[in-house]
Amino acid sequence: MIITAMFRAPLSRAPLSRRRCIQALALGGLARRAGAQARITIRLSHVVARQTPKGLALERFGELVRARSQGRIDVVVYPNSLLFGDADEMQALQLGAVDMLAPSLSKFGRLGFPEFELFDLPFLFETRTQVYRAMQGRLGQALLAGLARQRMVGLGYLDNGFKHMSANRPLVAPDDFAGLRMRVQGSRVIAHQMRALGARPVVLDFGETRRALAMGVVDGTENPISNFWTQRMHEVQTHLSLTHHGYLGYAVVVHQRFWAHLAGPDRQLVAAALEEALAWGNAIARSENEQALAALRESGGIHIHDPSAAQRQQLRAATAEVYQGLERRIGRQWLEQVQQEWITG
Ligand code: SIN
Repeated sequence: MIITAMFRAPLSRAPLSRRRCIQALALGGLARRAGAQARITIRLSHVVARQTPKGLALERFGELVRARSQGRIDVVVYPNSLLFGDADEMQALQLGAVDMLAPSLSKFGRLGFPEFELFDLPFLFETRTQVYRAMQGRLGQALLAGLARQRMVGLGYLDNGFKHMSANRPLVAPDDFAGLRMRVQGSRVIAHQMRALGARPVVLDFGETRRALAMGVVDGTENPISNFWTQRMHEVQTHLSLTHHGYLGYAVVVHQRFWAHLAGPDRQLVAAALEEALAWGNAIARSENEQALAALRESGGIHIHDPSAAQRQQLRAATAEVYQGLERRIGRQWLEQVQQEWITG
């Protein structure tokens, strides 16, 4: 049955690799979902390390679900692209090879949800409060509701933090980016941002990034410190510039089919546990990133730069064209709404 679904799936762009298909088939047996008292296993895949805001929040979600269901509902978390990477996790969700994902907001654009790339706009947000207002307000809810177009259910948002730039030289002013190959997520906004700075964007899976940096396939990248530190990117990059130029957060999603299969009380239990775990994850995201930065400084293995206000202003000016690019694709109303929501609350 899973095989049939694989070849009929409307979302499939490229077939899952043979290895992934085998994993999907093998794992399908773990997730028997039936009546209200049936044992259930929720398979949750993500691409970052356990010791990140996302990794920790999802582990906590699993603990809450197990405790509240007295072990009847299990959550198996596969971190670090162990099960699926960026390129195939959404397809795996559509096929039922995994039950729950928490991709970064930047990864929804290429699936047909370009509005999510609002969150990638450079220098749109300065503070987490602004981000939360946009996420928790009407805009954030409208984005999640739109996921129904591809039979997904958006269950909530999760924070990581602000992104910074790394390379083997300081990146504090637009000229510093000239000619660099910068690894980016599959977001047209982020690609445009890099081109506006004079760099060449290279879309790569998160799980491939460290190796690509080590081998010189790409020269630099952008990420919050928690990801940078836990992937040990400081061992393969000599300079980190605290540009605070963009935001990285996540949406937790399931397929409608999976959600509908859960009995009502189980769905409520899972939703409540997730809400609590996400609130906890959002509360620790800042401190996790601060601790990662402290650890990075202590490691002494990388030069850390703090761009001046004037330098950040230059970076902002150099990337301003990205706004018009997105506006042309998704319409002005989204940009007006995000700005209005974070200003007015
Ligand atoms: C993530 O935090 O899930 C990955 C971010 C990235 O691909 O850069």
